[in-house]
Amino acid sequence: MLATKAELHVSRELLPRLSEARRRTDELFDLVRPDSLYDRPIPERHRIIFYIGHLEAFDLNLLNGRLLSLANSDPDLDRLFAFGIDPVGGGLPTDQPSDWPSLGKVRQYVQRTRDELDEGLGSLRNGPHRASAEFSSALLLNVAIEHRLMHAETLAYMLHRLPYNRKNPRPIPPRLTLVPDISTMIEVPQGPAMLGLERNGDTFGWDNEYERHWVDIPAFAIDRYKIRNSEYLDFINSGGYANRTLWSDADWQWKETNGISHPAFWRQDDNGREWFWKGMFNEIPLPPDWPAYVSHAEASAYARWAGKSLPTEDQWQRAAYGSPDGQGRQYPFGVEDMLGNGWEWTSTVFAPFAGFEPFPFYPGYSADFFDGKHYVIKGASMRTAACMLRPSFRNWFQPHYQYVYAGFRCVSNPLA
Ligand SMILES: [Fe+2]
Repeated sequence: MLATKAELHVSRELLPRLSEARRRTDELFDLVRPDSLYDRPIPERHRIIFYIGHLEAFDLNLLNGRLLSLANSDPDLDRLFAFGIDPVGGGLPTDQPSDWPSLGKVRQYVQRTRDELDEGLGSLRNGPHRASAEFSSALLLNVAIEHRLMHAETLAYMLHRLPYNRKNPRPIPPRLTLVPDISTMIEVPQGPAMLGLERNGDTFGWDNEYERHWVDIPAFAIDRYKIRNSEYLDFINSGGYANRTLWSDADWQWKETNGISHPAFWRQDDNGREWFWKGMFNEIPLPPDWPAYVSHAEASAYARWAGKSLPTEDQWQRAAYGSPDGQGRQYPFGVEDMLGNGWEWTSTVFAPFAGFEPFPFYPGYSADFFDGKHYVIKGASMRTAACMLRPSFRNWFQPHYQYVYAGFRCVSNPLA
């Protein structure tokens, strides 16, 4: 029997992409010294061991019963590793290393699950298969692939925080692109921004990317480039972290409570004379012309200090893809460096577009975060997988999370 176009898409594109995504996450776990796999480099997140089990558990929980029919070999671990965490309101996880299964047990679970999935997926490769009546194989496999690739990026943030002596050094990943020392703003005329994805189109998207719609945006001006470390240092040197008027109540309280006086990627020497940038495997003198990676709270304070604002999601979208006729195209106004050199914070609280419907097989992916406590980031970092560079992709984090590869640019809005 001849394979259908959909089956060929699965066997020739999606399954190889799943293998490649696994290679990327395996490679990240290999960076961690075995005696550090139960560490928790970021207080708001699980211990590293969770993520080793999570990626396979997610794939199994997603695909089994929908695309595949596998014997459920360890339901307790399937549940234990089902979901990550993002606590709001300051409550941090308190579990101990001894609360988690042994490394041997987790590794065995991962291998067995991966083998079972591959056996099931291999039979898809060989022709007719029982796809869920409700969801196509392509949709479910795209979810598995992008979920894993998103973790490849967030794991990189996490392992970035792990002390250097707990990692196996690797060749340094590509460095950030320099941001030119030109502080110009680009005028963006009034006009439409196209947001979201058309349902039933060919492009895969997550639930929060639908529906496609247009928003008319008044004229504004936006920084041509992201804010550089040297510019952010001017803000620090001018007393920005001690100036109460630049911070919202919640941001000030967070900063004071945690004694925050600079970005998490920066370290000042003991004499207070020199700044260093904390890379994945070593520190270097602070590069003045790399984008400043900061939290939303710090980006917002800088913008106020500069007499400007962070862009809204709609403004960012118009600057990146807008055009007079309302159809999308890239970089129409000469704004630069919007993809691949760091995400960019917006002032927009993460919320559903009109017509939002959660994926029934992953209802909490977005909906759990429509709580008014997360902000949209747009663009991409150097660790973002290329498939997520589509204009409709939306990402989100809490405003006090300092560890994302995210910077910002500012906008000036005409007086209303
Ligand atoms: Fe996850």
